[in-house]
Amino acid sequence: MSNPSLLILPGDGIGPEVMAEVRKIIDWYGAKRGLVFDVSEDLVGGAAYDAHGTPLHDDTMAKAQAVDAVLLGAVGGPKYDVLDFSVKPERGLLRLRKEMDLFSNLRPAQCFDALADFSSLKKDVVAGLDIMIVRELTSGVYFGEPRGIFKEGNERVGINTQRYTESEIARVARSAFDLAMKRGKKLCSMEKANVMESGILWRDVVTEVSREYPEVELSHMYADAGAMQLTRWPKQFDVIVTDNLFGDLLSDLAAMLTGSLGMLPSASLGAPMENGRPKALYEPVHGSAPDIAGQGKANPIACILSFAMALRYSFDQGPEAARLESAVEKVLADGVRTADLMGPDGGVPVSTTEMGDAILAALDASL
Ligand code: IPM
Ligand code: MG
Repeated sequence: MSNPSLLILPGDGIGPEVMAEVRKIIDWYGAKRGLVFDVSEDLVGGAAYDAHGTPLHDDTMAKAQAVDAVLLGAVGGPKYDVLDFSVKPERGLLRLRKEMDLFSNLRPAQCFDALADFSSLKKDVVAGLDIMIVRELTSGVYFGEPRGIFKEGNERVGINTQRYTESEIARVARSAFDLAMKRGKKLCSMEKANVMESGILWRDVVTEVSREYPEVELSHMYADAGAMQLTRWPKQFDVIVTDNLFGDLLSDLAAMLTGSLGMLPSASLGAPMENGRPKALYEPVHGSAPDIAGQGKANPIACILSFAMALRYSFDQGPEAARLESAVEKVLADGVRTADLMGPDGGVPVSTTEMGDAILAALDASL
């Protein structure tokens, strides 16, 4: 049997720096755990635009379709603000999501004990928080037609369309129910059924799918109330399922509850391939952070934890994923901090590479 394959797309800004640390972790698994990956690397986002005039070359798209999993760093930066919408770095990422049909985006919001003081909320509201947002990722207003900026009389009108089919709702609902079964068996679905027909359909279909999962306790919430409840008492939630745009907003909100956007990974999953593995792309929730790029200040943990998610969801290596997550927790408990994790009392932050090395040392110690 050939080794599992990984395509690495570091992207822009801090992407390449944090991905360099992930490569060290991947090499560690090859050397110390006999988990050898065939790794290839390519360009995405602004980096791809600079080289090829497109944020995602067709060859790269084809490679992404062929591998077992894609690991992506981040895309975008002020340098590319002037580009035409159609070739902006973000279009590269959206094309990957759409063409790989990665409809289920898993965004955990987990509060690490060592960082509970970092949240802007009171410690008891966030300590021990562990929720999972499942965001629909390939439809809704991000992709609906008609879209564009049109002339209407003597003014322009900007149009985007929220559109969901029953099957699109049902498949992401199933993936959320499946996850809920493996976790706390509680699922909250969020939409705006009070204002949007697509929300009415969403609620209907999620309710229908719930009959396949009698053990899961399903609730519904309007997305605005959901945002309010997430800040009021986030621990009332286990799994949340929502559409593309609400999921974009709510996952940033949930991420910040944990006090540290630099810590959170994500998995974007599609239908199973021939080998039974889901089509998959893993990426940190944070962006390309151009303000600190190239300075060795970035926190590589979100990207490293994204690889842990790959171990769990693409490669059936749950215990090895847990090993990596524990290594991260140990390093944080030991007080190792990148600049984004420095509290108000200050201290001396470690660099991106030092954080990666500390995690490697913790992995060694786990053997
Ligand atoms: C995200 C980002 C993307 C999105 C951007 C970069 C296109 O905000 O992954 O949450 O809006 O989906
Ligand atoms: Mg976002």
